[in-house]
Amino acid sequence: MSVAEQEAVGAARFDLAAGELLGKARVQPALRQQFDGGAALHDPGPRLHGEDHVGAEDGGEPLRRRTMESVTISGPTHTLIQLTDLHLVAEGDSLPGGVDTAALLGRALQAVAGAAVGPDGAGPSALVFTGDLTEHGRPEEYRRLRAIVEPAAERLGAPVVLTAGNHDDRAALRQHLLGEPPSPEPFDHVVRLGALRIVVLDSTVPGYAHGALRPGQLAWLRAQLAEPAPAGTVLALHHPPLPSASPLAASIRLVHPEELGAAILGTDVRLVLAGHTHVASAGTLGGIPVWTGGPLATTVDGLAPGATLRTLGAPSVSRIDLFTDGLLTTSVPIAAEVVADVPGEEMEPRLAALREAAGVD
Ligand SMILES: [Fe+2]
Ligand SMILES: [Fe+2]
Repeated sequence: MSVAEQEAVGAARFDLAAGELLGKARVQPALRQQFDGGAALHDPGPRLHGEDHVGAEDGGEPLRRRTMESVTISGPTHTLIQLTDLHLVAEGDSLPGGVDTAALLGRALQAVAGAAVGPDGAGPSALVFTGDLTEHGRPEEYRRLRAIVEPAAERLGAPVVLTAGNHDDRAALRQHLLGEPPSPEPFDHVVRLGALRIVVLDSTVPGYAHGALRPGQLAWLRAQLAEPAPAGTVLALHHPPLPSASPLAASIRLVHPEELGAAILGTDVRLVLAGHTHVASAGTLGGIPVWTGGPLATTVDGLAPGATLRTLGAPSVSRIDLFTDGLLTTSVPIAAEVVADVPGEEMEPRLAALREAAGVD
């Protein structure tokens, strides 16, 4: 066995020991609020109204044992591919820095097409776009976006879920991307993916860069969430209800995030998906995981000093795996340099040896 394999087996043994130490008792939903730090990587899964209490059905297992049980190794029930902050421009235009976001979008969709994700590796359950689809909100930008995304989604057999961002124009989006009447009303809607529900909220304020939700939108959200979905709900909006490592993003954040938190507390919302900040980050809102996907356009350097705005060429998409009793969000670089590419048929026997050593399927 090579040194690398020995190290991997050693790591696997450590994980197994930790699993045995922490046990396999079931997590109670309300415990998510007591363990915010890890909530973005494992939630207790779909919940029903009225279940938010710390139960004692399991005879009072220690808290640490119950929290670790939600880390699942079974296959996902749904896999969402999140693409955000494309800032697509019309043909012949380019973003500052010369970023060709149409080419990056093509690369991203190509990568998704080659991936065996989703239940049984059958492909993604949906492509979820969380806003700033275009740079200027112009008709020709939406038509270009449609020409790129529509055939790719058809080949994947994956529905497309769209969210408006502050660079978008509601009326132009509806008319030129969806072929609908050009209404300027908030682009709020619900998409069902089998048992899973995606609720899309329009957090944009026309003419401004910051985000806000009107009282009518929050009332609409509460009405939608009054009935839980069998596999729970993912809430998508452009402006994340979180602080940001980017001073620019923090200056154009969602105002009054606590109102959104109050609207989803105690509902079946399992995850909030957002974009806007151009920095991949995870946090929680009232204990519910919030994932801000990394952008396809320029990434903001989260360690730049002071108010410095330093942008990086580090495009990514996010892969959101939803399990029966948990979830996993993964940021995947696009167009990055490949430093190793070991074929699956060569890796499989090595992985089998590691699984055997770890005692896992
Ligand atoms: Fe953006
Ligand atoms: Fe934005």
